[in-house]
Amino acid sequence: MNSVLERADLATLWLLGNPVSHSLSPLIQNRALQQLGSKAVYLAARVEEENFESVVRALPKLGAVGANVTVPHKERAFRVCDRVSDRAQAMGAVNTLLFRGQEIYGDNTDGAGWWRSLGQRCFERAVVIGAGGAARAVCYTLLTQGVSRLALLNRTLSRAEALRSELSSATPDGGRIEVFSLDRFPELLQSNTLVVQTTSVGLEGDLSPVPLPESLPTGVLLSELIYARTTALMACFQELGGEVQDGLGMLCAQGAESLALWLGLEFEEIPLQMMLEVARERVLGARDV
Ligand code: ATR
Repeated sequence: MNSVLERADLATLWLLGNPVSHSLSPLIQNRALQQLGSKAVYLAARVEEENFESVVRALPKLGAVGANVTVPHKERAFRVCDRVSDRAQAMGAVNTLLFRGQEIYGDNTDGAGWWRSLGQRCFERAVVIGAGGAARAVCYTLLTQGVSRLALLNRTLSRAEALRSELSSATPDGGRIEVFSLDRFPELLQSNTLVVQTTSVGLEGDLSPVPLPESLPTGVLLSELIYARTTALMACFQELGGEVQDGLGMLCAQGAESLALWLGLEFEEIPLQMMLEVARERVLGARDV
């Protein structure tokens, strides 16, 4: 890494968010850049809301190649772009910026990264908990991947209804979404169901956003977007013999998708496995402290 920093022809990639100090992206992206022999370096910057647009516009003037955008700036990034990908358009949010000459191009790799982290497996039905930005990326991806039935559960029903109607205009099959309150969760668990937990409940403490089920049918997979800990919902599914994946796979795969875009590489050329290993090591190390 030091030898890269000593270069005078360094290319920069950025993470823009607030906060960013906890982020694993600098670790996984710099390791990948190093392995690829790139002369680029990835840096994180905490950016206040009112400075976001001027920071983005300054980066290409400094020779930056691109940036990742995280909470709370993804919708703001969407508005700054001159052009966006179809998937970013459908999500109304951008997590990846690419500076192409005068143009600011925006993409959203969250949904595709999440789908890759599941091994692009097919499920007959999906139950998505939450109706915020992460749920939007997940639902859009599920619909475009042909999941035939999607139950959307949220504390605020009007927000889930709004997401359903947005997605019905953005995807050909948006009408397959049904909206439910959180307490309906146990009865919606049928065989061959993918459950996706997208809310922030579970980041701390032992709370679950939904009532915990007493048993699980076969072929249920819980995809929990939280990654730094075992949530109450994850622990319950593990105890009941369900398959569980945390959000680390999504974090790494969306980052790998962004890296492929910036470097003009195929996704398969990005060392995703190595990124996952260093991220897992860091998370487990932090838990031991
Ligand atoms: P993100 O972009 O990470 O998805 P967000 O847009 O703020 O974040 O959405 C947060 C989600 O977590 C929402 O679905 C929110 O439910 P509401 O729409 O009812 O606010 C959900 N959420 C947050 N705190 C919650 C809580 N204590 N119980 C249940 N749901 C909660």
